[in-house]
Amino acid sequence: MLRFTPERLCTVTSRVLKAAGARASSAECVAASLVENNLMGHESHGVLRISQYTNEIANGIIDPAGIIRTLRESATTALLDGGRNFGQIVAHQAMEMAIERARRHDLGLVAIRNCSHTGRLGEYACQAAREGLIGLVFSAGSSPGGIVAPYGATSRALNTNPMSWAVPTAKCPILFLDMATSMVAQGKIVAAIDNQRQIPPGWLLNAAGEPTTNPLDQREGGALVPFGLHKGSGLSVMIDLVAGGLTGRGPAILPEFQRDYPTVVAALNIEAFQPLDEFRETADKYIAALKQARKAPGVEEIFVPGEIEWRTRQDRLQHGIEIPEATWERIVSAGAKLGLDIQLQEEVGL
Ligand SMILES: NC(=O)c1ccc[n+]([C@@H]2O[C@H](COP(=O)([O-])OP(=O)(O)OC[C@H]3O[C@@H](n4cnc5c(N)ncnc54)[C@H](O)[C@@H]3O)[C@@H](O)[C@H]2O)c1
Repeated sequence: MLRFTPERLCTVTSRVLKAAGARASSAECVAASLVENNLMGHESHGVLRISQYTNEIANGIIDPAGIIRTLRESATTALLDGGRNFGQIVAHQAMEMAIERARRHDLGLVAIRNCSHTGRLGEYACQAAREGLIGLVFSAGSSPGGIVAPYGATSRALNTNPMSWAVPTAKCPILFLDMATSMVAQGKIVAAIDNQRQIPPGWLLNAAGEPTTNPLDQREGGALVPFGLHKGSGLSVMIDLVAGGLTGRGPAILPEFQRDYPTVVAALNIEAFQPLDEFRETADKYIAALKQARKAPGVEEIFVPGEIEWRTRQDRLQHGIEIPEATWERIVSAGAKLGLDIQLQEEVGL
């Protein structure tokens, strides 16, 4: 394992993205987002993605200068075409538009199509909660045909269709749920491969439809498993239709679906219903009460959604971010293909 400060990791990420053709401001925004994901403990959505993004720029899937256009809009809604720009940039802009609408009309909902990987959805849900609003994000896509088996099936038909909700609190960190509707995000399979670890039973079926703990089976046609049996599978189906339907992209299993990350972001003004301060206080009291529930044997603490991420962030700000050598080598090699000579000694920073 190698250990980096977030600042150094941001610098190297943004160097590689700039060399790949991203404008400085875009490269810095995407780098900050990827490193933040490492800080929050989601390496699956962190700098591990750099080589994916540089490859996607090289083969035209990402247009780092893509123009984001508003296709339709109303006082409370908008439909954006992301111009194949980075998903992080498009999603931030979409949530900004949803927040503006919620400020003026109590509700803002913006649907996005034609963008690249949207990253960690909690980032955008928390963007709204930081402004004292409720944030909601649903995302479908990206692989045509899907990579997740619906409940009762052994072959691919859904994607990992994630969602995030965030609410503002008073003194506690923002409460946010952020999850794939598969047992885990696909990136956790990549992270297991990079770490040369087996995965727990229940995450993956191999190409023959049998349960497996070998993460490499995912690359051989295996299907991820939805969380929560029929309920997680059902949630994924609804996200496919809401995000795929509102953006006009459709669900990934249909033959007309093209690679995309159809996403819906929404912001809701709490003050249209209750005084914000009271809502925040209730959230804090609720968190405290939940943590008092009787613990199951072997459990030391009850966590609320988002809490593990905020704690991991604190710890990593203090002690640095660990990156497996395989991930680092992929970053160096992505840089080398773009003419960069990335030296470990310059970048470690701790
Ligand atoms: N952009 C995309 O296309 C895409 C696709 C899939 C997933 N993702 C992202 O992948 C990331 C990881 O998803 P995941 O499903 O693997 O997340 P996860 O299983 O690690 O966490 C899911 C949720 O459970 C909470 N949680 C975790 N452990 C807990 C515990 N012990 N007690 C209470 N709550 C707990 C977390 O705070 C989080 O809100 C998310 O950020 C998601 O947005 C993105």
